[in-house]
Amino acid sequence: MSEAPRLGVLARWAEVLPLTPETPRITLGEGDTPLVRSVAIERELGVDELWFKLESSNPTGSFKDRGMVVAVAKAMERGAQAVLCASTGNTSASAAAYAARCGLQASILVPRGRVAVGKLAQAVAFGARIVEVEGSFDDALVLARTVAETHPIALVNSVNPDRIEGQKTAAYEICESLGDAPDALAIPVGNAGNITAYWKGFTECAERDFATLHPRMLGFQAAGAAPIVGGEPVADPRTVATAIRIGNPASWQPAERARDESGGRIDAVTDEEILDAYGLLASAEGLFVEPASAASVAGLRKLSGQGTLRGGRVVAVLTGSGLKDPETAESHATPDVARAGATLEGVERALGL
Ligand code: F0G
Repeated sequence: MSEAPRLGVLARWAEVLPLTPETPRITLGEGDTPLVRSVAIERELGVDELWFKLESSNPTGSFKDRGMVVAVAKAMERGAQAVLCASTGNTSASAAAYAARCGLQASILVPRGRVAVGKLAQAVAFGARIVEVEGSFDDALVLARTVAETHPIALVNSVNPDRIEGQKTAAYEICESLGDAPDALAIPVGNAGNITAYWKGFTECAERDFATLHPRMLGFQAAGAAPIVGGEPVADPRTVATAIRIGNPASWQPAERARDESGGRIDAVTDEEILDAYGLLASAEGLFVEPASAASVAGLRKLSGQGTLRGGRVVAVLTGSGLKDPETAESHATPDVARAGATLEGVERALGL
C-alpha cells in the first residue's frame, strides 16, 4: 500500500496563507505533526485531556519550519537571493535548511556560546554563514534588523509577518485533529512570535467555523528571562532553556493581546521546574524535548499546583527536539550505565540477571 506524500505547509494550507500563483511551492515536508495524548502527566494535572503537539517532528526538529517555508518562499517570490536571521539556534537551523534547499545564501547571527550544539551543527551542515555575536540574542536581533534595512537580504525572523502566517497553521491542525479548539493551549514564550501565531490561527479557525471555542493562551517564560511577566526588558537574561533566553521579545505586544483577548496568562517557570518537566516528559511519556519545550509542561504543573489550572482539554506545544541539546541531557540526568566484557556472563551480570 502506498502512502500519499506529505504535502507540506504551503500546499496543505494554501487557502489560509498569503500565496500567489508566483509563490514557489517549496517544501521539506513540514507540518502535519503528531498530536499525541498524554499517558501520565494528564493524570497528575487533573485535567480531562492533555495532548502534546510534537513540533520536533518537523524536518529540522522544531516548529520554526512552518514559518520558515512561507518566509523563504515569499522572499524568493520577491527576488531575494539571501536570507538573514538572528537566532538562539532553531530559527537559524531552519533558515539554513530552506536556504540550502532553495539555492539561497543563509547568514545567521547567534549569541556566542549560548546556542545548543545540535542547532549549530545543523547550521554548519547546511552551509550557512555563521556570525557569533559577542552579545545576547536581543543584540543580535537589533543588528539583523538594521542589516536587512540597508542591504538586499531578506530578514526571516518572526518580525517578518510571513513567519507568523506559516506558524499559525499549527492551530489549524490542532482544531482539525480535535474537531474543535482546545480549552487551553500551553506554549513556551521567547521572542513571542509563536504565541502570536497560534492566537492568530485559533482566532481565524473560529471565524471560519473550524472551531467553536477560543482557547485560553497559557504562555511560559523562563524565570531568568521573563520580561513580559516582569513588565520590563531583562538586560542579561539567563536560563538553561537557551532557546528562550530572550530579554526583549519582538512580539511583546501581540503576545499580551493573545493573553488578554483569550483570558489566559503569561507566567514564569524556574530552571528547576523546567528541568523537572523535561525529565518527566522523557521518563513518563517517552518524549525527549529540548528544555525550552518543557516550559509549557512546567507551567501547567505550576498552575495545577496552585489550583489555578481549570480542567477541560489542554494542548501543550512541544516546540523542539531533545536531540538538539545533548549537553543538557547528559548533565541533568543520571545515566544508568554499566560496563561489561564481551561475554554472556559479563552482560548478564551487568543487566542484573
Ligand atoms: N521553543 C523553542 C524550541 C524555540 O526555539 C523558541 C524560539 C521558542 C520555544 C519560543 O518561541 O520565540 O516564538 O516565542 N526560538 C527562537 C530561535 C528565538 O531563534 O530559534 P518564540
